Amino acid sequence: MLLSDYQELRDLVSRFADEAVAPLAADIDKNEKIPTELIKQLGENGFLGSYIPEEYGGAGMDYTSYSLIVEEISRACASTGVLVSAHTSLCVWPILAFGNEEQKKKYLPKLASGEHIGCFLLSEPNAGSDAGSLTTYAEDKGDHYEITGMKNWITNGKEGNIAICFAKTEKTDNYKGISAFIVETDSPGYEIVKIEEKLGIKGSSTAQIALDKVKVPKENLLGKEKKGFSIGMATLDGGRIGIASQALGIAEAAFRYARQYSSERIQFGKPISSLQAIQFMLADMSTKIAASRLLIWEASRLKDNEKPYSLESAQAKLFAAEAAMWITTKAIQVCGGNGYTKEYPLERYFRDAKITEIYEGTSEIQRVVIAANELKKNK
Ligand code: CAA
Repeated sequence: MLLSDYQELRDLVSRFADEAVAPLAADIDKNEKIPTELIKQLGENGFLGSYIPEEYGGAGMDYTSYSLIVEEISRACASTGVLVSAHTSLCVWPILAFGNEEQKKKYLPKLASGEHIGCFLLSEPNAGSDAGSLTTYAEDKGDHYEITGMKNWITNGKEGNIAICFAKTEKTDNYKGISAFIVETDSPGYEIVKIEEKLGIKGSSTAQIALDKVKVPKENLLGKEKKGFSIGMATLDGGRIGIASQALGIAEAAFRYARQYSSERIQFGKPISSLQAIQFMLADMSTKIAASRLLIWEASRLKDNEKPYSLESAQAKLFAAEAAMWITTKAIQVCGGNGYTKEYPLERYFRDAKITEIYEGTSEIQRVVIAANELKKNK
Protein backbone atom coordinates (compact mmCIF):
# COMPACT_ATOMS: atom_id res chain seq x y z
CA MET A 1 0.00 0.00 0.00
CA LEU A 2 1.12 3.57 -0.66
CA LEU A 3 1.69 6.10 2.10
CA SER A 4 -1.28 8.09 0.76
CA ASP A 5 -3.49 4.97 1.10
CA TYR A 6 -2.58 4.73 4.79
CA GLN A 7 -3.38 8.42 5.24
CA GLU A 8 -6.73 7.94 3.54
CA LEU A 9 -7.45 4.95 5.77
CA ARG A 10 -6.41 6.90 8.89
CA ASP A 11 -8.77 9.74 7.94
CA LEU A 12 -11.62 7.30 7.45
CA VAL A 13 -11.07 5.40 10.71
CA SER A 14 -10.45 8.61 12.59
CA ARG A 15 -13.81 9.98 11.43
CA PHE A 16 -15.54 6.76 12.48
CA ALA A 17 -13.74 6.85 15.84
CA ASP A 18 -14.71 10.47 16.49
CA GLU A 19 -18.32 10.14 15.36
CA ALA A 20 -19.36 6.60 16.29
CA VAL A 21 -17.03 5.56 19.15
CA ALA A 22 -15.83 8.58 21.16
CA PRO A 23 -19.33 9.79 22.15
CA LEU A 24 -19.99 6.36 23.72
CA ALA A 25 -16.65 5.92 25.49
CA ALA A 26 -17.58 7.34 28.91
CA ASP A 27 -20.73 5.19 29.05
CA ILE A 28 -18.85 2.11 27.86
CA ASP A 29 -16.49 2.65 30.81
CA LYS A 30 -19.33 3.34 33.27
CA ASN A 31 -21.65 0.55 32.15
CA GLU A 32 -18.78 -1.90 31.57
CA LYS A 33 -20.21 -2.92 28.21
CA ILE A 34 -19.57 -2.22 24.55
CA PRO A 35 -22.97 -1.85 22.83
CA THR A 36 -23.80 -4.71 20.46
CA GLU A 37 -24.73 -2.12 17.85
CA LEU A 38 -21.19 -0.68 17.94
CA ILE A 39 -19.65 -4.16 17.48
CA LYS A 40 -21.98 -4.59 14.50
CA GLN A 41 -20.78 -1.29 13.02
CA LEU A 42 -17.13 -2.33 13.48
CA GLY A 43 -17.89 -5.43 11.42
CA GLU A 44 -19.83 -3.53 8.74
CA ASN A 45 -16.90 -1.14 8.29
CA GLY A 46 -14.43 -3.97 7.78
CA PHE A 47 -12.54 -3.23 11.02
CA LEU A 48 -12.92 -6.79 12.35
CA GLY A 49 -11.60 -8.42 9.20
CA SER A 50 -9.03 -5.85 8.15
CA TYR A 51 -6.31 -8.26 6.97
CA ILE A 52 -8.53 -11.23 6.19
CA PRO A 53 -8.22 -11.75 2.41
CA GLU A 54 -11.28 -10.80 0.39
CA GLU A 55 -11.83 -14.44 -0.64
CA TYR A 56 -12.72 -15.17 3.02
CA GLY A 57 -14.93 -12.11 3.34
CA GLY A 58 -12.32 -9.72 4.76
CA ALA A 59 -11.19 -6.25 3.72
CA GLY A 60 -7.89 -7.58 2.28
CA MET A 61 -5.72 -4.93 3.92
CA ASP A 62 -2.30 -5.45 5.48
CA TYR A 63 -1.05 -5.55 9.08
CA THR A 64 0.08 -1.92 9.03
CA SER A 65 -3.51 -0.93 8.21
CA TYR A 66 -4.73 -3.07 11.08
CA SER A 67 -2.40 -1.41 13.60
CA LEU A 68 -3.56 1.99 12.40
CA ILE A 69 -7.21 0.93 12.86
CA VAL A 70 -6.52 -0.23 16.43
CA GLU A 71 -4.70 3.02 17.22
CA GLU A 72 -7.51 5.26 15.96
CA ILE A 73 -10.29 3.29 17.63
CA SER A 74 -8.34 3.11 20.91
CA ARG A 75 -7.88 6.89 20.77
CA ALA A 76 -11.66 7.09 21.06
CA CYS A 77 -12.19 4.12 23.38
CA ALA A 78 -9.52 1.72 24.63
CA SER A 79 -12.09 -0.98 25.48
CA THR A 80 -13.38 -1.02 21.92
CA GLY A 81 -9.79 -0.92 20.65
CA VAL A 82 -8.85 -4.08 22.49
CA LEU A 83 -11.98 -5.87 21.36
CA VAL A 84 -10.77 -5.29 17.79
CA SER A 85 -7.19 -6.17 18.67
CA ALA A 86 -7.77 -9.43 20.59
CA HIS A 87 -10.32 -10.59 18.00
CA THR A 88 -8.03 -9.88 15.05
CA SER A 89 -4.53 -10.61 16.38
CA LEU A 90 -5.29 -13.50 18.67
CA CYS A 91 -8.08 -15.39 16.89
CA VAL A 92 -8.17 -14.40 13.21
CA TRP A 93 -4.41 -14.40 12.68
CA PRO A 94 -3.59 -17.93 13.95
CA ILE A 95 -6.41 -19.34 11.79
CA LEU A 96 -5.02 -17.46 8.78
CA ALA A 97 -1.44 -18.47 9.50
CA PHE A 98 -1.85 -22.06 10.73
CA GLY A 99 -5.35 -23.10 9.67
CA ASN A 100 -6.04 -25.43 6.76
CA GLU A 101 -8.33 -24.43 3.90
CA GLU A 102 -11.44 -25.99 5.49
CA GLN A 103 -10.83 -24.15 8.77
CA LYS A 104 -10.31 -20.83 6.98
CA LYS A 105 -13.45 -21.27 4.89
CA LYS A 106 -15.48 -22.31 7.90
CA TYR A 107 -14.39 -19.69 10.43
CA LEU A 108 -12.98 -16.58 8.73
CA PRO A 109 -16.08 -15.14 6.96
CA LYS A 110 -18.10 -14.83 10.17
CA LEU A 111 -15.07 -13.46 12.05
CA ALA A 112 -14.59 -10.90 9.25
CA SER A 113 -18.17 -9.68 9.38
CA GLY A 114 -18.31 -9.52 13.17
CA GLU A 115 -21.07 -12.12 13.32
CA HIS A 116 -18.51 -14.06 15.36
CA ILE A 117 -16.07 -12.55 17.84
CA GLY A 118 -12.78 -14.23 18.63
CA CYS A 119 -10.81 -14.80 21.83
CA PHE A 120 -7.60 -16.55 22.92
CA LEU A 121 -7.45 -19.10 25.72
CA LEU A 122 -3.81 -19.40 26.79
CA SER A 123 -3.40 -18.08 30.35
CA GLU A 124 -4.51 -20.04 33.40
CA PRO A 125 -4.70 -19.28 37.13
CA ASN A 126 -1.17 -20.69 37.54
CA ALA A 127 0.18 -20.05 34.04
CA GLY A 128 0.50 -16.34 33.22
CA SER A 129 3.97 -15.21 32.17
CA ASP A 130 5.01 -18.87 32.35
CA ALA A 131 2.55 -19.87 29.64
CA GLY A 132 4.34 -23.18 29.01
CA SER A 133 3.28 -24.50 32.42
CA LEU A 134 -0.44 -24.61 31.56
CA THR A 135 -2.30 -27.74 32.66
CA THR A 136 -5.47 -27.76 30.55
CA TYR A 137 -5.58 -31.23 29.02
CA ALA A 138 -6.95 -32.41 25.69
CA GLU A 139 -7.60 -36.12 25.84
CA ASP A 140 -7.56 -37.98 22.54
CA LYS A 141 -10.88 -39.81 22.21
CA GLY A 142 -10.40 -41.22 18.73
CA ASP A 143 -12.46 -38.98 16.46
CA HIS A 144 -12.39 -36.02 18.86
CA TYR A 145 -10.55 -34.47 21.82
CA GLU A 146 -12.06 -33.78 25.21
CA ILE A 147 -10.66 -30.58 26.73
CA THR A 148 -10.70 -29.94 30.48
CA GLY A 149 -9.13 -27.03 32.37
CA MET A 150 -9.48 -23.45 33.60
CA LYS A 151 -8.54 -20.34 31.59
CA ASN A 152 -7.97 -16.86 33.02
CA TRP A 153 -7.95 -13.20 31.89
CA ILE A 154 -9.68 -13.90 28.61
CA THR A 155 -10.26 -10.69 26.67
CA ASN A 156 -13.57 -10.86 24.73
CA GLY A 157 -14.42 -13.79 27.01
CA LYS A 158 -18.08 -12.76 27.20
CA GLU A 159 -18.60 -11.90 23.53
CA GLY A 160 -16.35 -14.63 22.12
CA ASN A 161 -17.89 -17.23 19.80
CA ILE A 162 -14.64 -18.73 18.58
CA ALA A 163 -11.71 -19.41 20.90
CA ILE A 164 -8.16 -20.39 20.08
CA CYS A 165 -7.53 -22.73 22.99
CA PHE A 166 -4.22 -24.14 24.16
CA ALA A 167 -4.18 -27.50 25.90
CA LYS A 168 -1.70 -30.29 26.44
CA THR A 169 -2.17 -33.42 24.36
CA GLU A 170 0.72 -34.89 26.32
CA LYS A 171 1.11 -34.20 30.04
CA THR A 172 4.59 -32.66 30.08
CA ASP A 173 5.85 -30.25 32.74
CA ASN A 174 6.96 -27.78 30.05
CA TYR A 175 5.62 -26.28 26.82
CA LYS A 176 6.40 -29.30 24.66
CA GLY A 177 3.05 -31.10 25.03
CA ILE A 178 0.90 -28.06 24.11
CA SER A 179 -1.43 -28.18 21.08
CA ALA A 180 -3.75 -25.46 19.73
CA PHE A 181 -7.45 -25.91 18.95
CA ILE A 182 -10.30 -23.93 17.44
CA VAL A 183 -13.11 -24.20 19.99
CA GLU A 184 -16.70 -23.07 19.45
CA THR A 185 -17.74 -21.44 22.69
CA ASP A 186 -21.30 -22.78 22.56
CA SER A 187 -19.93 -26.32 22.94
CA PRO A 188 -21.34 -28.18 25.98
CA GLY A 189 -18.94 -27.97 28.94
CA TYR A 190 -17.63 -24.49 27.98
CA GLU A 191 -18.66 -22.10 30.75
CA ILE A 192 -17.90 -18.49 31.69
CA VAL A 193 -17.47 -18.72 35.45
CA LYS A 194 -16.44 -15.16 36.22
CA ILE A 195 -16.23 -11.70 34.65
CA GLU A 196 -13.41 -9.73 36.26
CA GLU A 197 -13.96 -6.28 37.79
CA LYS A 198 -11.03 -4.20 36.64
CA LEU A 199 -9.20 -0.90 37.07
CA GLY A 200 -9.49 0.07 33.41
CA ILE A 201 -10.69 -1.07 29.97
CA LYS A 202 -13.92 -1.68 31.84
CA GLY A 203 -16.02 -2.06 28.70
CA SER A 204 -13.85 -4.94 27.53
CA SER A 205 -14.94 -8.23 29.09
CA THR A 206 -12.24 -10.23 30.85
CA ALA A 207 -13.47 -13.69 31.72
CA GLN A 208 -12.47 -16.80 33.58
CA ILE A 209 -13.58 -19.80 31.59
CA ALA A 210 -13.98 -23.40 32.72
CA LEU A 211 -13.77 -26.22 30.21
CA ASP A 212 -15.26 -29.46 31.38
CA LYS A 213 -14.80 -32.31 28.90
CA VAL A 214 -15.46 -29.97 25.97
CA LYS A 215 -15.75 -32.13 22.87
CA VAL A 216 -13.62 -30.75 20.04
CA PRO A 217 -13.60 -32.55 16.68
CA LYS A 218 -10.23 -33.75 15.40
CA GLU A 219 -10.51 -31.40 12.42
CA ASN A 220 -10.35 -28.44 14.82
CA LEU A 221 -6.75 -29.09 15.77
CA LEU A 222 -4.87 -25.96 14.64
CA GLY A 223 -1.52 -26.82 13.05
CA LYS A 224 0.25 -29.93 14.25
CA GLU A 225 -0.13 -31.67 17.60
CA LYS A 226 2.39 -30.49 20.22
CA LYS A 227 3.31 -27.41 18.15
CA GLY A 228 0.85 -25.25 20.04
CA PHE A 229 3.37 -23.26 22.07
CA SER A 230 5.09 -21.94 18.96
CA ILE A 231 1.67 -21.09 17.49
CA GLY A 232 0.85 -19.18 20.68
CA MET A 233 4.18 -17.33 20.74
CA ALA A 234 4.00 -16.42 17.05
CA THR A 235 0.43 -15.20 17.57
CA LEU A 236 1.53 -13.05 20.51
CA ASP A 237 4.30 -11.49 18.41
CA GLY A 238 1.57 -9.99 16.24
CA GLY A 239 -0.74 -9.35 19.17
CA ARG A 240 1.91 -7.20 20.79
CA ILE A 241 1.83 -4.83 17.81
CA GLY A 242 -1.92 -4.54 18.39
CA ILE A 243 -1.49 -3.70 22.08
CA ALA A 244 1.28 -1.22 21.26
CA SER A 245 -1.21 0.43 18.89
CA GLN A 246 -3.84 0.48 21.61
CA ALA A 247 -1.35 2.12 23.99
CA LEU A 248 -0.48 4.68 21.31
CA GLY A 249 -4.15 5.52 20.76
CA ILE A 250 -4.68 6.09 24.49
CA ALA A 251 -1.51 8.23 24.70
CA GLU A 252 -2.57 10.32 21.69
CA ALA A 253 -5.99 10.97 23.23
CA ALA A 254 -4.46 12.08 26.54
CA PHE A 255 -1.89 14.26 24.80
CA ARG A 256 -4.45 16.03 22.59
CA TYR A 257 -6.63 16.71 25.61
CA ALA A 258 -3.77 18.15 27.68
CA ARG A 259 -2.47 20.23 24.76
CA GLN A 260 -5.87 21.83 24.16
CA TYR A 261 -6.53 22.34 27.88
CA SER A 262 -3.17 24.07 28.34
CA SER A 263 -4.15 26.72 25.77
CA GLU A 264 -7.50 27.39 27.43
CA ARG A 265 -6.61 27.26 31.13
CA ILE A 266 -5.69 30.72 32.42
CA GLN A 267 -3.46 31.01 35.48
CA PHE A 268 -1.24 33.93 36.49
CA GLY A 269 -3.10 35.96 33.83
CA LYS A 270 -2.12 33.83 30.81
CA PRO A 271 -2.70 30.37 29.32
CA ILE A 272 -0.62 27.75 31.14
CA SER A 273 0.71 26.69 27.71
CA SER A 274 2.94 29.77 27.86
CA LEU A 275 4.76 28.27 30.86
CA GLN A 276 7.90 26.34 30.03
CA ALA A 277 7.08 23.74 32.70
CA ILE A 278 3.96 22.81 30.70
CA GLN A 279 5.66 23.12 27.31
CA PHE A 280 8.38 20.67 28.35
CA MET A 281 5.79 18.09 29.40
CA LEU A 282 3.98 18.53 26.06
CA ALA A 283 7.28 18.26 24.17
CA ASP A 284 8.19 14.99 25.88
CA MET A 285 4.69 13.58 25.31
CA SER A 286 4.85 14.47 21.63
CA THR A 287 8.28 12.87 21.23
CA LYS A 288 7.28 9.62 22.98
CA ILE A 289 4.18 9.40 20.78
CA ALA A 290 6.24 9.88 17.62
CA ALA A 291 8.75 7.23 18.76
CA SER A 292 5.97 4.76 19.63
CA ARG A 293 4.38 5.26 16.20
CA LEU A 294 7.67 4.65 14.40
CA LEU A 295 8.37 1.45 16.39
CA ILE A 296 4.86 0.17 15.61
CA TRP A 297 5.23 1.16 11.98
CA GLU A 298 8.55 -0.71 11.72
CA ALA A 299 7.28 -3.91 13.39
CA SER A 300 4.17 -3.86 11.15
CA ARG A 301 6.26 -3.26 8.03
CA LEU A 302 8.46 -6.25 8.84
CA LYS A 303 5.41 -8.43 9.47
CA ASP A 304 3.82 -7.32 6.20
CA ASN A 305 7.05 -8.20 4.40
CA GLU A 306 7.23 -11.62 6.08
CA LYS A 307 10.51 -10.77 7.82
CA PRO A 308 11.25 -11.72 11.47
CA TYR A 309 9.66 -9.20 13.83
CA SER A 310 9.58 -10.76 17.37
CA LEU A 311 12.21 -8.29 18.58
CA GLU A 312 10.55 -5.26 17.00
CA SER A 313 7.04 -6.12 18.20
CA ALA A 314 8.32 -6.57 21.77
CA GLN A 315 10.17 -3.24 21.52
CA ALA A 316 7.07 -1.51 20.18
CA LYS A 317 4.85 -2.89 22.94
CA LEU A 318 7.35 -2.20 25.71
CA PHE A 319 7.97 1.36 24.61
CA ALA A 320 4.42 2.31 23.66
CA ALA A 321 2.94 0.84 26.87
CA GLU A 322 5.41 2.61 29.15
CA ALA A 323 5.00 5.80 27.12
CA ALA A 324 1.21 5.59 27.46
CA MET A 325 1.49 5.22 31.24
CA TRP A 326 3.88 8.19 31.43
CA ILE A 327 1.86 10.36 29.05
CA THR A 328 -1.48 9.73 30.76
CA THR A 329 0.15 10.55 34.12
CA LYS A 330 1.60 13.82 32.78
CA ALA A 331 -1.66 14.70 31.00
CA ILE A 332 -3.42 14.59 34.38
CA GLN A 333 -0.60 16.74 35.79
CA VAL A 334 -1.13 19.37 33.08
CA CYS A 335 -4.85 19.48 33.87
CA GLY A 336 -4.27 19.51 37.66
CA GLY A 337 -7.34 19.04 39.89
CA ASN A 338 -9.63 18.97 36.87
CA GLY A 339 -7.63 16.13 35.32
CA TYR A 340 -8.13 14.05 38.44
CA THR A 341 -11.93 14.22 38.36
CA LYS A 342 -14.35 12.01 36.49
CA GLU A 343 -15.74 15.06 34.69
CA TYR A 344 -12.70 14.87 32.44
CA PRO A 345 -11.65 11.79 30.41
CA LEU A 346 -8.04 11.83 31.61
CA GLU A 347 -8.50 9.56 34.61
CA ARG A 348 -10.07 6.99 32.24
CA TYR A 349 -7.08 7.21 29.87
CA PHE A 350 -4.77 6.73 32.87
CA ARG A 351 -6.70 3.66 34.10
CA ASP A 352 -6.92 2.23 30.58
CA ALA A 353 -3.19 2.70 29.90
CA LYS A 354 -2.05 0.47 32.77
CA ILE A 355 -3.18 -2.82 31.23
CA THR A 356 -0.98 -2.30 28.17
CA GLU A 357 2.03 -2.92 30.45
CA ILE A 358 0.49 -6.23 31.51
CA TYR A 359 -1.49 -8.20 28.93
CA GLU A 360 -0.06 -10.10 25.97
CA GLY A 361 3.18 -10.23 27.95
CA THR A 362 4.16 -7.86 30.76
CA SER A 363 6.84 -5.21 30.20
CA GLU A 364 9.23 -7.57 31.98
CA ILE A 365 8.42 -10.37 29.50
CA GLN A 366 8.98 -7.94 26.60
CA ARG A 367 12.44 -7.22 28.04
CA VAL A 368 13.09 -10.99 28.26
CA VAL A 369 12.12 -11.37 24.57
CA ILE A 370 14.17 -8.33 23.50
CA ALA A 371 17.28 -9.46 25.40
CA ALA A 372 16.99 -13.05 24.09
CA ASN A 373 16.72 -11.78 20.51
CA GLU A 374 19.67 -9.42 20.92
CA LEU A 375 21.87 -12.06 22.58
CA LYS A 376 21.16 -14.47 19.72
CA LYS A 377 23.10 -12.04 17.51
CA ASN A 378 26.36 -12.74 19.42
CA LYS A 379 28.73 -15.08 17.63
N1 CAA B 1 7.50 -17.56 17.52
C1 CAA B 1 7.45 -18.90 17.30
N2 CAA B 1 7.95 -19.81 18.16
C2 CAA B 1 8.54 -19.33 19.29
C3 CAA B 1 8.63 -17.96 19.58
C4 CAA B 1 8.09 -17.05 18.63
N3 CAA B 1 8.13 -15.74 18.84
N4 CAA B 1 9.25 -17.79 20.76
C5 CAA B 1 9.55 -19.01 21.20
N5 CAA B 1 9.12 -19.94 20.30
C6 CAA B 1 9.27 -21.40 20.40
C7 CAA B 1 10.73 -21.81 20.40
O1 CAA B 1 11.21 -21.98 19.08
C8 CAA B 1 10.68 -23.11 21.16
O2 CAA B 1 10.15 -24.13 20.35
P1 CAA B 1 10.98 -25.48 19.96
O3 CAA B 1 11.27 -26.19 21.24
O4 CAA B 1 10.07 -26.21 19.04
O5 CAA B 1 12.22 -24.98 19.32
C9 CAA B 1 9.61 -22.85 22.20
O6 CAA B 1 8.77 -21.81 21.67
C10 CAA B 1 10.15 -22.40 23.54
O7 CAA B 1 10.96 -21.27 23.32
P2 CAA B 1 11.71 -20.55 24.53
O8 CAA B 1 12.55 -21.59 25.25
O9 CAA B 1 12.37 -19.33 24.00
O10 CAA B 1 10.48 -20.13 25.45
P3 CAA B 1 10.40 -19.99 27.02
O11 CAA B 1 9.80 -21.20 27.59
O12 CAA B 1 11.72 -19.51 27.54
O13 CAA B 1 9.29 -18.83 27.19
C11 CAA B 1 8.57 -16.55 27.20
C12 CAA B 1 9.47 -17.64 26.59
C13 CAA B 1 8.98 -15.30 26.46
C14 CAA B 1 8.77 -16.32 28.68
C15 CAA B 1 7.12 -16.95 26.90
O14 CAA B 1 6.70 -17.94 27.79
C16 CAA B 1 6.16 -15.77 26.96
O15 CAA B 1 6.06 -15.00 26.01
N6 CAA B 1 5.43 -15.63 28.10
C17 CAA B 1 4.40 -14.61 28.20
C18 CAA B 1 3.08 -15.17 27.79
C19 CAA B 1 2.11 -14.07 27.47
O16 CAA B 1 2.39 -13.14 26.74
N7 CAA B 1 0.91 -14.23 27.98
C20 CAA B 1 -0.16 -13.36 27.68
C21 CAA B 1 -1.36 -14.20 27.34
S1 CAA B 1 -2.53 -13.56 26.23
C22 CAA B 1 -3.38 -12.43 27.12
O17 CAA B 1 -2.82 -11.51 27.63
C23 CAA B 1 -4.84 -12.63 27.27
C24 CAA B 1 -5.68 -11.82 26.44
O18 CAA B 1 -6.78 -12.24 26.15
C25 CAA B 1 -5.23 -10.49 25.94
